[in-house]
Amino acid sequence: MADTLEIQKILKERTTSPQVITLDGAAGTGKTSLSRSLASLLGFNYLDTGAMYRSIALRLGEGAWLRSGPWLEEQLAELRFSLTGSGEETLLVLDGRPVGEEIRREEVGMWASKLAQLTVVREHLTRCQRDLGNSFSLVAEGRDMGTVVFPGAQFKYFLFADSEERARRRQRQIREEYGKEADLSEIRQDLEKRDRQDSGRSLAPLRAAEDAVSVDTTDKAFSQVLHLILEDMQSRLGAIQDPAHHRG
Ligand code: DC
Repeated sequence: MADTLEIQKILKERTTSPQVITLDGAAGTGKTSLSRSLASLLGFNYLDTGAMYRSIALRLGEGAWLRSGPWLEEQLAELRFSLTGSGEETLLVLDGRPVGEEIRREEVGMWASKLAQLTVVREHLTRCQRDLGNSFSLVAEGRDMGTVVFPGAQFKYFLFADSEERARRRQRQIREEYGKEADLSEIRQDLEKRDRQDSGRSLAPLRAAEDAVSVDTTDKAFSQVLHLILEDMQSRLGAIQDPAHHRG
């Protein structure tokens, strides 16, 4: 069983600068719940970078991806992201207001995915995300956290799961949160379409960093994946702390 206090202690002893743990993966792989729990257990802030793409998409509206680069740049320059709260209660704040539930709409996810293909948008958000990483210790979830935004992070995880299972998870979430019975095959088609868009783009596509630990979450319970990640962190920190480990 991993000891989160021990992990926190070793991390604090090693550096006083903010640290970043990255969790990348497609929608429905479980990265949001895992990132939030990890943030709480380790006393880090939680950064949902998908929510940053979504809030920009909602603010700029449908079709913004068709507008000119200079127009987009001008709009983006006006926006200010920050974080408040801590652990899983961390809130993403845009221009002084916590971002709301309306960014979770399926269509907003699709708009976000379209905007996420544009250099001007990615460069801007990469800068904002790194600025937040300089101010807060983060568990950062997204698609390119380990590959592009925080390539130097010591702990990187890449989650994947088959699309049938991911669609079931999303259906369950919609049922629990909104009391609605969504169509499974429709959800699956939307997920797969967004996957193709996110994995197929030339800029910062969804993929595992070479030094990321990949975890298949298809048949694993949330608590299993959480323990797997914490145990991996603890064993690597232990290996670094204890020189005898290297001699072995
Ligand atoms: O994680 P999510 O489903 O809320 O993200 C919405 C979209 O934002 C996703 O389809 C692609 C884009 N995105 C991205 O390109 N890079 C990230 N780091 C996070 C999200």
